[in-house]
Amino acid sequence: MELYLDTANLEEIREIAGWGVLSGVTTNPTLVAKEFSARGERLTLEGFARHLRAVCEAAGGPVSAEVTALEAEAMVAEGRRLAEIHPHIVVKLPTTVEGLKACKRLSAEGVRVNMTLIFSANQALLAARAGASYVSPFLGRVDDISWDGGELLREIVEMIQVQDLSVKVIAASIRHPRHVTEAALLGADIATMPYPVFQQLLKHPLTDLGLRRFMEDWEKVRP
Ligand code: E4P
Repeated sequence: MELYLDTANLEEIREIAGWGVLSGVTTNPTLVAKEFSARGERLTLEGFARHLRAVCEAAGGPVSAEVTALEAEAMVAEGRRLAEIHPHIVVKLPTTVEGLKACKRLSAEGVRVNMTLIFSANQALLAARAGASYVSPFLGRVDDISWDGGELLREIVEMIQVQDLSVKVIAASIRHPRHVTEAALLGADIATMPYPVFQQLLKHPLTDLGLRRFMEDWEKVRP
């Protein structure tokens, strides 16, 4: 399973890319808004394109950039503009009727599409039939309403295997390290997670303690 960062923050991307474990990045309008507000920068089309280009360079792999238009025609136009920014760009579309129409058209043009806000296996099936390259079921948001995000992912992964569909599954809305393990065991192709979850994946008190003891023992006899 590949590991993606769910962020629009360049420092976070550079840090995790530096670990040698980053395969891509996903963004969404909330994450982009958060990033620009944090920098006190007004969002312009040029500024957004410049930022996305930098994200693509830092990520070194696929970067999902989401459209904000709600109608197919405008989604296609916005998707084309996003795809032109950098070869790493994957156009992210919401799983709505208009999103499906735009997905069909953009995919036919060779633009890779990530269908987002997936909360059922049938939505994933529709996205796959519309030519999506990726589907993003939101585990955390399903768990948030006391349903089972893991079960949603299990159904989608199994359906794609049984139906021999070529779409890749991005386990999204990851909230904690158990989600990552669960996604890997269930056969997700990719898990996209916020920066703190990446840190939690690595951190273990016994690793820190073990290293400290090794160093203390070594110090006692060091030549
Ligand atoms: C996926 O691509 C989304 O950006 C993301 O995972 C949403 O996660 P959230 O539920 O933590 O906002």
